[in-house]
Amino acid sequence: MWQLTGSGWFASRHAQSDYATTENGFCAKCHSPLQAYAPASFSNGAVANAPSVPQQRFQAVTCATCHPPDNITAQIGALNPSAMDGGAVSIYLWKGYNNPASYQTLSTGVNSDGTSQEDLLCLNCHEQRHNTDDSAMWAMMTTTYGPNGGPVRCIDCHMSEYQFIGGGSTGLPLLEERFHDWNVGADLPYSCGAVGSVSGCHNSTYSTFTVADAQNLIPFIKEQHTDWWTLPPFNGVVQAAVPAHGAPTLIEYKTLEREISKIDAM
Ligand code: HEC
Ligand code: HEC
Ligand code: HEC
Ligand code: HEC
Repeated sequence: MWQLTGSGWFASRHAQSDYATTENGFCAKCHSPLQAYAPASFSNGAVANAPSVPQQRFQAVTCATCHPPDNITAQIGALNPSAMDGGAVSIYLWKGYNNPASYQTLSTGVNSDGTSQEDLLCLNCHEQRHNTDDSAMWAMMTTTYGPNGGPVRCIDCHMSEYQFIGGGSTGLPLLEERFHDWNVGADLPYSCGAVGSVSGCHNSTYSTFTVADAQNLIPFIKEQHTDWWTLPPFNGVVQAAVPAHGAPTLIEYKTLEREISKIDAM
C-alpha cells in the first residue's frame, strides 16, 4: 500500500512542516493535525491555550490527516451515507483520531460559484485558491472541463491519477491510484492530462499538448501564497501582499488573525 500510494508523501512538504515555531497545539492544526489541541487559538499575534508539542511527537501532515482509520471510516459512513468516498477521505478536526466526531466528511457537487466542494479538504488548511484572477484557471476550476465532467479539483492537478488497479476479471474493486507528492510539475504528463497521461484532459484528436508545453505554461498559473491577502475576498483590506505567516505590522497581524480565527471557529 505504501509503495503504491504513500511513497511520494515522504518527499513532499506535507511530510516536512516542522519548524520550531509550529510545535504548539495551534499551529499544529495545519502543520501536524494529529498533535493539535482543538481549543487552541490565535489572538493579538500570539498563540493562546496552545500546549507545546514536543519535537519527537510532531508528525506533520500525515496520512491520517486525510484518511480516518478503517474502523472509524465505517462509523462515519454509517452515520452519513452520502459522505464522499464513504468517509474514507475526511477533514480531521483535532478531537482524537479514534473519535468519529473529529471528522468532517466531504460532498461531491459544486459550490454556488461553480467550484468543487471536494476542494474543502485542501482549503481547510490552504485557506485560499491560487490564481483566481487568472481567467484560464478560473475557467478550469468552475466549469465542466474536469476528468469526471465537473470542475477541475485541486486533486486533479496536484494528485493526478496515473494508473488503475483491480476491476475487470480481478474480482477486486477498481481503484484509481493518485500521486501523493502534490507536485504538479514533477507529475507530468499526468497532472495536466498531456500526451501519455490517463485523463487526456489537455490532449485530444484536435490538439496535441506535450510535457514541454505544460512546463512552459506552468509559470503562468503559479502564484505563491504570499499573495493570498490581495485576492478576493480580501481585496482592499490589505494593500501590500504579506507573507502567509510573516505579518509584520499590526494591521496585517489583525487581518491574519481574522482569517486564522475563521478556521479556528470551525
Ligand atoms: C492539515 C492541513 C493540510 C491539508 C488538509 C492540506 N495541506 Fe497542503 N500543505 C500544508 C502545509 C502546512 C504545507 C507546507 C508545509 C511546509 O512547507 O512547511 C503544505 C504544502 C502543500 C504543497 C506544497 C508541496 C511541495 O512539496 O512543494 C502543495 C502543492 C499542497 N500542500 C497542496 C495540497 C492539496 C492539493 C491538498 C488537498 C488534497 C492539501 N495540500 C491539503 C497543509 C495542508
Ligand atoms: C490554517 C492553516 C495554518 C495554520 C493555522 C498555520 N499554518 Fe503555517 N502554513 C500553512 C500552509 C498551508 C503553509 C504552506 C505555505 C503557503 O502556502 O504559503 C504554511 C507554511 C508555513 C511556514 C513555511 C514558510 C512559509 O511562510 O511558507 C512556516 C514557518 C509556518 N507555516 C509557520 C506557522 C506558524 C508558526 C503557525 C502558528 C502561529 C502556523 N504556521 C499556522 C497553513 C497554516
Ligand atoms: C489547473 C491545475 C491546478 C489546480 C486546479 C490547482 N492547482 Fe495548485 N498549483 C498548480 C501549479 C501548476 C502550481 C505550481 C507548482 C507545481 O508545479 O506544483 C501550483 C502551486 C500550488 C501550491 C504552491 C506549491 C509550491 O511549490 O509552493 C499550492 C500550495 C497549491 N498549488 C495548492 C492548491 C490547492 C489547495 C488547490 C485547490 C483549491 C489547487 N492548488 C488547485 C496547478 C493547480
Ligand atoms: C492531504 C490529504 C491526503 C494525505 C495527507 C494522504 N492522502 Fe491518500 N488520498 C487523498 C485523496 C484526496 C485521495 C483520492 C480520493 C479519491 O479519489 O476520491 C487519496 C487516495 C488514496 C488511496 C487510494 C488509491 C490512490 O492512490 O489514490 C490510498 C491507498 C491512499 N490515499 C493512501 C494514503 C497514504 C498511505 C498516505 C500517507 C503516506 C496518504 N494517502 C496521505 C488525500 C490524502
